[in-house]
Amino acid sequence: MCGIVCYVGDKQAKGILIEGLKQLEYRGYDSAGIAIQNGNAIQFDRAVGRISELERKISDRAMQGKSGIAHTRWATHGEPTEANAHPHRDRDERVFVIHNGIIENYRLLKKRLETKGYSFRSETDTEVIAHLIAIYFHGDLCEAVRKTMIQLEGTFGIAVIHRDVPGKIVVARRGSPLVIGVGENCHLAASDVSAMVRHTNKVVHLLDNELAILSAEDFSISTVQATPIERSTEIVDWQAEDAELNGFPHFMLKEIFEQPETVRNAIRGRLDYAEGIPRLGGIAPVWDSLKQCRHIVIVACGTSYYAGYVGRYIFEKLTDIDVSVELASEFRYRRINFAPNTFVIALSQSGETADTLAAIREAKRKGASLLGVVNVVGSSIAREAGAGVYNHAGPEIGVASTKIFTSQLTILSLLALLLGRHHSLSLTEGVEAIRAIDALPGQISKVLSLAHSIEAIAEKYYLKSNWLFLGRKYNYPIAMEGALKLKEISYIHAEGYAAGEMKHGPIALVNPEMPTVAIAPKDSVYEKMVSNIQEIKSRRGPVIVVVNQGDEDIKEIADDVIEIPGTLEFLNPILTVIPLQLLAYYCARLLHRDIDKPRNLAKSVTVE
Ligand code: M6R
Repeated sequence: MCGIVCYVGDKQAKGILIEGLKQLEYRGYDSAGIAIQNGNAIQFDRAVGRISELERKISDRAMQGKSGIAHTRWATHGEPTEANAHPHRDRDERVFVIHNGIIENYRLLKKRLETKGYSFRSETDTEVIAHLIAIYFHGDLCEAVRKTMIQLEGTFGIAVIHRDVPGKIVVARRGSPLVIGVGENCHLAASDVSAMVRHTNKVVHLLDNELAILSAEDFSISTVQATPIERSTEIVDWQAEDAELNGFPHFMLKEIFEQPETVRNAIRGRLDYAEGIPRLGGIAPVWDSLKQCRHIVIVACGTSYYAGYVGRYIFEKLTDIDVSVELASEFRYRRINFAPNTFVIALSQSGETADTLAAIREAKRKGASLLGVVNVVGSSIAREAGAGVYNHAGPEIGVASTKIFTSQLTILSLLALLLGRHHSLSLTEGVEAIRAIDALPGQISKVLSLAHSIEAIAEKYYLKSNWLFLGRKYNYPIAMEGALKLKEISYIHAEGYAAGEMKHGPIALVNPEMPTVAIAPKDSVYEKMVSNIQEIKSRRGPVIVVVNQGDEDIKEIADDVIEIPGTLEFLNPILTVIPLQLLAYYCARLLHRDIDKPRNLAKSVTVE
């Protein structure tokens, strides 16, 4: 969603901020803006549309200055217009503010300000912040921000500059991510480390209800109650080139092709062949209670939810634990009684998804223990969970999640295997599973070598406007994930169904114009999938099938066949999902969609 980037240092800020905004483009946005400070002067500009539009607008403006703030906006209050784009300013144009999040009581605050004679230039919730800071400012910008924070309800990550405080930026957060970057002769702040990795890999995370004042030389953090905070820097393992296309036309394709490596990263140093057991250091703090755990509730949204759904089948296969999987966005409306020894596992690429964060807070309140499976180190969910496993998959930039999905499935398999070995699984079963997991990166490379034939299948069907995806058991969530991938980047309508449900309704849709993608590896439900495929063929529906190599029987009935290597049944989804990612990608490409930034979507959904 919205993105923040700030710089104060010994270099001109304009280019650094525009570059930083470009690194945040993937989050999804509809307008952008910048403010640069030079002594007591602040220049600013904003533009609707892409950052290139803002860049074009300011290209012939000098905008000298070594500190500044910049923002990408994803509209929540008011349309994407220049007037609603950030930065917002106070009446006298002394305070400039950028903001991520939602101020829930802004109407009340706005009304109060209007009765005092203030007028508003935008329809946003953010503008009240600029007015309040100006009112509370009597020479100390941190104090003015503190007093303002006390007035605000809702979520925010903000960055503020003031004409009378040159060379300083104040940032503050409650509920929206903000990270400080410690560079050479400079400090940065951003909503996302990818905006800063070109300048530094040393970061400090700001926590809720904290603020920081940055200058070129130093920074200091304090709480909203003015208590100073000492926090040491962390090193991020993301490289600047992780955020480059490296010859791929889109980040989504690059990330699909990174999967042998990201799955390898998920298992690196974690497989113990001798004991037939995975080693997961991040769960050490909770291991004693985790081994006693009898119930697991997995919470997540979107693609992470589908990973959790597959996870349920995997835990059921490998352990004796009861597992349920819940949409984080619905979780707080449920009246769930956690049995003793319940663990809640939150899955999230970004670690900032508002619904998932709210779900784990709710679970904590009700006494459940927490585990996070998160990609972004130091993110809110990772911190809140306290224990868990990092994906170590590098930044995922394409809005459509791909490499994190297979990484999540790998980690869930390791977690289930670990618990299973402490329940009933034998050493032989453990070693067999470890061996199969270890083989996955090589097998993923084999699936990726089919990219051209999958592109040819996409060419055949990309103009069809309705698709059905079918799978059973482990591959039922894969059918839903395949449909989600196609929908979000190609805007083709698609539905993912449990194949057994087909006769209960969706079969009415089957006709020669609607392709069905059936996921049918040789597993315990293979024969039933074959029957479903035959039922579709008898109604003249075209069928694309994902099968195991050498499946000659299915070739006779299906229209198009994608043959992938075989593995243990519970690991199949890590391989079967990849052709569906590629199919979605190629359909979207043939339709000339904006694949990495599909319409209306944001990479990280930080508002509820
Ligand atoms: O960062 P998270 O994993 O918590 O994000 C969850 C969903 O917002 C995300 O998976 C979304 O569904 C993607 N666009 C799917 O490709």
